[in-house]
Amino acid sequence: MRLDIVTLFPGMFAGPMTESIMARAQRSGLVTVRLVDLREFATDERGTVDDRPFGGGAGMVLKPEPLFAAVDSVRTPAARVVLMTPQGVPFRQRTAERLSLVPHLIVVCGHYEGVDERFRQAVVDEEISLGDFVLTNGSLPAMVLADAVIRLLPGALGSPDSAISESFGTEGLLEYPQYTRPEDFRGLRVPEVLLSGDHARIAAWRHEQQGWRTLGRRPDLLTDAQE
Ligand SMILES: C[S@@+](CC[C@H](N)C(=O)[O-])C[C@H]1O[C@@H](n2cnc3c(N)ncnc32)[C@H](O)[C@@H]1O
Repeated sequence: MRLDIVTLFPGMFAGPMTESIMARAQRSGLVTVRLVDLREFATDERGTVDDRPFGGGAGMVLKPEPLFAAVDSVRTPAARVVLMTPQGVPFRQRTAERLSLVPHLIVVCGHYEGVDERFRQAVVDEEISLGDFVLTNGSLPAMVLADAVIRLLPGALGSPDSAISESFGTEGLLEYPQYTRPEDFRGLRVPEVLLSGDHARIAAWRHEQQGWRTLGRRPDLLTDAQE
């Protein structure tokens, strides 16, 4: 996969993109991540990328010229252009699964009041929101999206089963409770069934736990799963 991220703040990506699974996926060639500095596509020597909104109002808006030029500089026929925006469709595990199959993603990070509407209309294929809250710019959302997508690329995780059995997986449920050694920690014991070695009983217990856990914490997922 090729992942181009258009941002005003490439420096923000230094930590998350160079640690752990995201770094390993890049080293092993599963994904090529390129940070496209929007400032380099400014329309003047001073590096201007924003301007006042027509009609007045607070804040600044990212100008169309640098945005169009930045995307044009990396676009391929297979590319899908994603805009991070609180006005977008909420990001879900199934969104990450779908995007992990796209060969070339261009993720655009907004700033200030957002992007000129003409860029959104003419260039953007889909708009994604991380949730009903407003962040200062789209770089953190882009990193979250990148992490969720990259870990799904075949070979990115140590065990491919990790991505199948976890929360929001095929059944749309939350994952069951997990335990590791020791069996007894300060009098808190691991459920007996997990020590039984009886794989069928363990699977049944886990499935039941998934149901209870989802019902208690996220009943909305149970309705979603039936749709
Ligand atoms: C301050 S926000 C702009 C909010 C915009 N004025 C509005 O009311 O919809 C600046 C940028 O941060 C990013 N951003 C902020 N909150 C986000 C969210 N919940 N999900 C995705 N991106 C977000 C977007 O790229 C956005 O263009």
